[in-house]
Amino acid sequence: MQVNAPAYVKNTQLIAWVAEMAELTQPANIYWCDGSDEEYARLCQLLVDAGTFIKLNEAKRPNSFLACSDPSDVARVEDRTFICSEKKENAGPTNNWMDPTEMRATLKPLFTGCMKGRTLYVVPFSMGPLGSHISHVGIELTDSAYVAVNQKLMTRMGKAVFDVIGENGHFVPCMHTVGAPLEAGQADVKWPCNKNKYIVHFPETREIWSHGSGYGGNALLGKKCFALRIASNMARDEGWLAEHMMILGVTNPAGKKYHVAAAFPSACGKTNFAMLVPPAVFEGWKITTVGDDIAWIKPAADGKLYAINPEAGYFGVAPGTNFQTNPNCMSSLNKNVIYTNVGLTDDGDVWWEGMEQDGGPIPAHLIDWQGKDWTPEIAKQTGAKAAHPNARFTVAATNNPALDPEWDNPAGVAIDAFMFGGRRSTTVPLATEARSWTEGVYMAATMGSETTAAAVGQMGVVRRDPFAMLPFCGYNMSDYFQHWLNMEAKITAAGATLPRIYCVNWFRKGDDGKFVWPGYGDNMRVLKWIIDRVEGNAQGQENLFGVSPTYGEITWTGLNFSEAQFNTVTSIDKAAWTQELQLHTEHFTQLQHNLPPALQATKAQLQARLEA
Ligand code: OXD
Ligand code: MN
Repeated sequence: MQVNAPAYVKNTQLIAWVAEMAELTQPANIYWCDGSDEEYARLCQLLVDAGTFIKLNEAKRPNSFLACSDPSDVARVEDRTFICSEKKENAGPTNNWMDPTEMRATLKPLFTGCMKGRTLYVVPFSMGPLGSHISHVGIELTDSAYVAVNQKLMTRMGKAVFDVIGENGHFVPCMHTVGAPLEAGQADVKWPCNKNKYIVHFPETREIWSHGSGYGGNALLGKKCFALRIASNMARDEGWLAEHMMILGVTNPAGKKYHVAAAFPSACGKTNFAMLVPPAVFEGWKITTVGDDIAWIKPAADGKLYAINPEAGYFGVAPGTNFQTNPNCMSSLNKNVIYTNVGLTDDGDVWWEGMEQDGGPIPAHLIDWQGKDWTPEIAKQTGAKAAHPNARFTVAATNNPALDPEWDNPAGVAIDAFMFGGRRSTTVPLATEARSWTEGVYMAATMGSETTAAAVGQMGVVRRDPFAMLPFCGYNMSDYFQHWLNMEAKITAAGATLPRIYCVNWFRKGDDGKFVWPGYGDNMRVLKWIIDRVEGNAQGQENLFGVSPTYGEITWTGLNFSEAQFNTVTSIDKAAWTQELQLHTEHFTQLQHNLPPALQATKAQLQARLEA
């Protein structure tokens, strides 16, 4: 098949690969994306004509669209996600593994003719600022125009990427199909997909193959598949870190700026934290967003760790977002947004559960994400949701009014502190600083979280989610822990100060079952304590688990939060911790292959402290 590459595409390996994939998938056309605004508008119109997109009210949400997916295709499918390393032990016990030869044999018939009747879009994208030494290029081949336009918002996508890879430069091949070929004359549906889903990674050859889903991380292959699963392998081999972390800048009233990278499991308010608006008492402090989901972090010659956000947009969870929980995010969503699986109001705007919590109106009627009539009355009677709990917005980072001026700096920003936090209604205190790098790695390695709607599965049960990387680490988790432990010597050998490591938990509940800590903007109070610690201005108090703030060290002005309430979110319950350490033991038993002895030793120290 003629691939008709534009004259500016010089990479022979790329052209050969596109030809080979076209031969396999048999598309009706091949289209090379150039990333222009004109192209974006054209593809969006095509999606409107196909019924996939609804154009929203131009006066209320300029240049914005709503897509509603098939109800069977609404979230990442972790049980259909595979790490096909040569050896099973290199995928580790937390990943699904299949022998690569067997997997290739499984995929071959699925991909044969899978794009019949469709266009194959060639989507060139850079993860990270173009040409940065921390960035990498991917090329996604997809039969979904929805994916192509999302990639325009989520990545640095377009022609210039072909210049970066030149004639021989490396790129990560990302092969995607919705798996719904069209026979001659067959009408399309508005959200084509296939029940037979495979999200497959070949770490040694750095390849991604995705079949059957058009949704989020299953289909926008730059995000979880490349920037985490494949990149974690690249990072291990090359001595850097690919992390499920947001990155923010904190500038104090004197103008001194710090950078914090924080890992939280999916749907734990990471985007809210990345866009935090401090309470009034923090006048003069500024929080700016470098990234909201993923960080690529490299040690530089000065020993410091420099981070970039490999993405260029946000694919955030809509439900629960409002002007109180995340005003910067709401302002980002005014224009040029793709919404997926939210409700459509009668005046052509969008609505989702939680939008009313800032005092805004609840629509008397709308069309829900499944195309059905929705009213507050129907919701009360049937529990029907206007928006799917994992409904999303896709928006370019440049829409964010709090975007960090350094967000696109190819050199990255130097990290002063790491934060790790799960969703735990009990046991884990509000904030704890690790006493050492190893103890910090231990905290992150044993992190747990109550599950949410971001992935298919049971909700609300605690699962261990080390480093918030459980579904995203592309190799054996214990080797990943060792990789983190090895960073300490790299940093200190170059003479740099180690970033401090914190464990936080915004989600402790009281006896009434309600959250005690107000969260959102008030998380600034904890962040300020962390900056005080970095500056040596807060002594903290040592406990079993590490060093925590005293009541007196937190700025309370503007918040009515008693010492008793503070104790509720910071107390260490010995019985709960005895049980918790038991769970750490089970967790480590699962991860025993190559588990670093330093982590076992840290657990033994905690155990001894608990028993003392
Ligand atoms: C996400 C996730 O979409 O973590 O960012 O699930
Ligand atoms: Mn995420």
